[in-house]
Amino acid sequence: MEWTTEQRYKRIEEVTPEELQALAKQVNESPWRQTFHIQPVTGLLNDPNGFSFYNGEYHLFYQWFPLGPVHGLKYWYHTKSTDLVHWENVGIAIHPNAEIDSHGAYSGSAIEHENNLYLMYTGNTRDENWVRHPFQNIAVMNEDGVITKCDKPVIDHVPDGYTDHFRDPKVWKENDTFYAVIGAQRINETGCIVLYSSPDMKNWTFEGEVKNDLGSFGYMWECPDYFMVNGQGVLVFSPQGIAPNGDHYHNIYQSGYVIGELNVHGNTMTHGEFSELDRGFDFYAPQSMEAPDGRRIMVGWMGLPEVAYPTDQYGWAHCLTLPREMTIENGKLMQRPVRELKLKRGVKMEVHDVLQNETKTFDSFSGTVFELMTEFHNVDAESFGIEFRVSETEKTVLLYDAVQKKVVLDRTHSGTAVGTEFGTVRQCALDAEQVKFHLFVDTSSVEVFVNDGEEVFTSRIFPGSESTGIRFFANDGNASYSAVKWTIGG
Ligand code: FRU
Repeated sequence: MEWTTEQRYKRIEEVTPEELQALAKQVNESPWRQTFHIQPVTGLLNDPNGFSFYNGEYHLFYQWFPLGPVHGLKYWYHTKSTDLVHWENVGIAIHPNAEIDSHGAYSGSAIEHENNLYLMYTGNTRDENWVRHPFQNIAVMNEDGVITKCDKPVIDHVPDGYTDHFRDPKVWKENDTFYAVIGAQRINETGCIVLYSSPDMKNWTFEGEVKNDLGSFGYMWECPDYFMVNGQGVLVFSPQGIAPNGDHYHNIYQSGYVIGELNVHGNTMTHGEFSELDRGFDFYAPQSMEAPDGRRIMVGWMGLPEVAYPTDQYGWAHCLTLPREMTIENGKLMQRPVRELKLKRGVKMEVHDVLQNETKTFDSFSGTVFELMTEFHNVDAESFGIEFRVSETEKTVLLYDAVQKKVVLDRTHSGTAVGTEFGTVRQCALDAEQVKFHLFVDTSSVEVFVNDGEEVFTSRIFPGSESTGIRFFANDGNASYSAVKWTIGG
């Protein structure tokens, strides 16, 4: 179905409760509703926003178009949690109902200030000629959870030299100064990040463009983030317009980082190479926060723009990833599922075996929703790995190619096809003697953490509900493995 502009900009307040119920019913009939991921009650979810800890709780907002699986008028939807794994739907946080956000309350971030949680976001507006005018706005949440929007933007114009693609403020505080990075496009249509500073979250000064060595690297950088981890600075952003190169950059848009240091006084980021954050098919626009115990935790959007998904026909699209803890070890960014996820573990099953050029299954070692950790050792096989969500016609394959030294995720036969125009296999280099795969499988997704977070593959998959099998295999040689699986429950 083609959505008209009028339909895309319809407000949730304009539809009747019956219409919303009909949409919710259609959503609930979807075979692919997730069980332990944050997903929209109806409509489309995209970027995580305002990820923070405030007043004893984690707050995680997201971009939401309530009325269908398309990018229409965006609201901020609010979820909260005390442990990062059990999330409560709170409701709409920011309504795009003012002149300064009339065409969408776009992405942004949150920070505590004077006992309130300040939400800084982009107000997307369009004039009568449909020309975009972005504003950077503030909404303030108090201790009772009441959110009040400020009626004037705190940044009311785009500085000279940049186009109207100017959005997604990410705020942090250093000493007594607030800083915000904003995703931008230069007038020569290349992407970049600009820096602002403020003493009070209200008065913002343009500090200039964040200088770096990436040169012309895509046409727009969305959703920047900057944080320190293990004493080093990490600049994360989502560049658009990067061409595929070898195993890299096969999704429509990328999300990645450079490690180094941002000198806020000279607006200069000294850094190493750009790396993708995730090797899977569906990961974009991540945002991080610092937990009260100092951990740096990141959540991404498990989806991409401009790609049709099989859930569209049920009136909803996308979910958020699980929270991951970020560290830098030996100069490498590592990502591990947060330890709180153990709270979700249910029934445990363990298996181990030797594979001699064969594929094996175990009775009742199967499932559609589970956590699985598997380690392979004593390998002389050319490739080995696991297949999951298996039926006679479907399988999702995760393997290590010991000859090419690559990890491969293959969703060619995963079920209902998605984004096949961007290929059905993702792979990345990994030079390792031992290989550990840690999987979180939900009804329609998989997140694979490889070798304690050295690499991550995040992907939606859309298998039939009868595809429950798990198989272990070794090709052209032998491999021993041990595996632990948990059901994932309440
Ligand atoms: C990234 C993005 C952001 C924007 C938001 C709108 O997915 O395009 O740049 O703020 O989504 O929903």
